Amino acid sequence: MKYIIANWKSHKDAQEIQEWLSDLSNSEFRNSNLEVVIAPPFPYLSMLQLANSLNFKLAAQDVSPFPPGSYTGAVNAEQLSDLSVRYAIVGHSERRRYFHESHSDVANKVERCLEASIQPIVCVDDEYITVQAAAIPEKLLSSCMVAYEPLSAIGSGQNEPVEQVKQVYEKITQVFGQVKLIYGGSIAAENVKSYLEIGDGVLVGTASLKSSDFLALLQ
Ligand code: PGA
Repeated sequence: MKYIIANWKSHKDAQEIQEWLSDLSNSEFRNSNLEVVIAPPFPYLSMLQLANSLNFKLAAQDVSPFPPGSYTGAVNAEQLSDLSVRYAIVGHSERRRYFHESHSDVANKVERCLEASIQPIVCVDDEYITVQAAAIPEKLLSSCMVAYEPLSAIGSGQNEPVEQVKQVYEKITQVFGQVKLIYGGSIAAENVKSYLEIGDGVLVGTASLKSSDFLALLQ
């Protein structure tokens, strides 16, 4: 099984999502040996849950580091689970950069996800793999999926060469154990195949936004 995880970030409104979904339903694409996972903005999770004739899985782009309780504005893992969310992206570099998330925030999010039976997809960059893993309780490391997301490759059109990604995968495996390995950073229809060959999947930002781009990638 290979994972194609679409991260829509803070893009799209309800109408655009309807159009995207109907383009996919009208296409030849049928989800067979791919696990297609969509991470929409929070307000649209239930819309995607209800309109899921394509049998894709849902991911959250983030999750509260806290359990349910008085944490204004937080969306907790149990609530996500209620909406059939199976995966949560944690520690994306944009969360670190714009929302000042720390390694311990990420570690707490991993714990909350696993308590609620949500699969955490932990984003790492080469330089902080070790410190990040050190913040996560050791017994939980091998339950993570790990997405290698080099900063220079995100949204730049400059995907990192496969050979380099392979080396970082080795490092991730040394630190996390035998986890599912995902690559993210300028994935597109032209380059996706080689990354699926060396790992378990890809995290796709820009090329998941237009239905035509995403369909080309799936095909
Ligand atoms: P990109 O984004 O595909 O636009 O490079 C990837 C990501 O941020 O996960």
